[in-house]
Amino acid sequence: MPATTSVHGQWTTRLAFILAATGSAVGLGNIWRFPYIAGDNGGGAFVLVYLGCILLIGLPVMMAEILLGRRGRQSPINTMVTLAREEGLSRGWGMVGWIGVLAGFLILSFYSVVAGWSLSYVFKSGSGGFMGLDADGSEAMFDGLLSNPEALLAWHTIFMVMTAMVVARGVQSGLEKAVTILMPLLFVMLVVMVGYAMVEGRFIAGLEFLLYPDFSALTANAVLLAMGQAFFTLSLGMGAIMIYGSYLQSEASIARTSAAVVGADTLVAIMAGLAIFPIVLGAGLSPEQGPGLIFVTLPLSFAEMPGGLYFGTMFFVLLVFAAWTSSISIIEPAVAYLVENVGMTRVAASASIAIAAWLLGIGALLSLNVWSDYTLFNMGILDLLDYVTANILLPLGGFLIAVFVGWRMTERSVQSELRMKLGGLYQIWYFLVRFVAPIAILFVFLRAVELI
Ligand code: TRP
Repeated sequence: MPATTSVHGQWTTRLAFILAATGSAVGLGNIWRFPYIAGDNGGGAFVLVYLGCILLIGLPVMMAEILLGRRGRQSPINTMVTLAREEGLSRGWGMVGWIGVLAGFLILSFYSVVAGWSLSYVFKSGSGGFMGLDADGSEAMFDGLLSNPEALLAWHTIFMVMTAMVVARGVQSGLEKAVTILMPLLFVMLVVMVGYAMVEGRFIAGLEFLLYPDFSALTANAVLLAMGQAFFTLSLGMGAIMIYGSYLQSEASIARTSAAVVGADTLVAIMAGLAIFPIVLGAGLSPEQGPGLIFVTLPLSFAEMPGGLYFGTMFFVLLVFAAWTSSISIIEPAVAYLVENVGMTRVAASASIAIAAWLLGIGALLSLNVWSDYTLFNMGILDLLDYVTANILLPLGGFLIAVFVGWRMTERSVQSELRMKLGGLYQIWYFLVRFVAPIAILFVFLRAVELI
């Protein structure tokens, strides 16, 4: 029998796990990535497919990941090996953990660069840089940041150090604290911003853009992006939620916990959209701004809003915190592995992973300026890292997790870990994990490959 607690520690309460998992899920994916990808792909129809992926793939895979983590109680690599052995299966399942470690390292490298943009915007806002800004000025400000490699490097470095510091301190004293206070505050700020967009922006047009489905805008690639976004925003497919699950008490309900995390994450994404698109359309900007969308749009809100200096600064501070509580979960699987198998201390493990990701991140930030001519499939390093991880590695990890839980583990092990009433909801979940999630992922992959 695997251990009942992890050597790395345990959340003090179920609420702490919900907050930590929500902290992991809610981040740049919701506020930066979701609006700009929805904007690039025509809005409504994309959002609908995204919500479908969240419900039919994301929620069931999240339950599967937590279940595996809590049963294995180790880093994702060792958890997969242990559970495979328990079921008499091949050690090869450890690959799922390795894919996760690789994905996490690639994600952190560009995530830190974008979090660095947010850090930089804290100071731009705080020094009154948004005052009197118009749409052109706002675009120029963002372009100015991207074309400045030294500034990007400095912010990227600061954010990476922040991440490594928290991870080095461990589960309870580091991760739990930040999340408990800051997540509710971020939510309140978003309410304020949606309120502002409602009053001052073209709110109905924004709502329509976000919710009215125009299926002619939906390509096979957009469906792949919607699925990738569902994985990215829920932190699924690479063992982040698995390892958080390994710190969860044995008694907590996996189903209810997952539903809470998925609900909160989705709410934040939709609110970010509602805070942004009315302003974009009101200012005559195109929703297809790409990765700069929030950095060009939101300063316009703050430029006009009474008290915009304070609200703007506070918003970007909270965005940095949201990114921070996510980035720690991105490297936790790799750190736990180094501690377990290489015998490193948490401090050494955190530092090693952070330094490696920092180096790759430098490539990513240079792709925005001095290396902007080097592209592969029309993408620079940063875009490529983002595309490959979200749309290929995470769904692949999610597929393998669903297959493992749905087909390779005995139903008895699954039920004993899940500890839910074996009624209709359980049946629906098991059906989604066995059939819907793997088949949908495979289908979306194949459709997208056909296109190339
Ligand atoms: N979900 C986070 C966000 O939306 C990012 C993130 C944290 C993540 N951990 C992850 C993405 C693990 C993929 C895998 O910003």
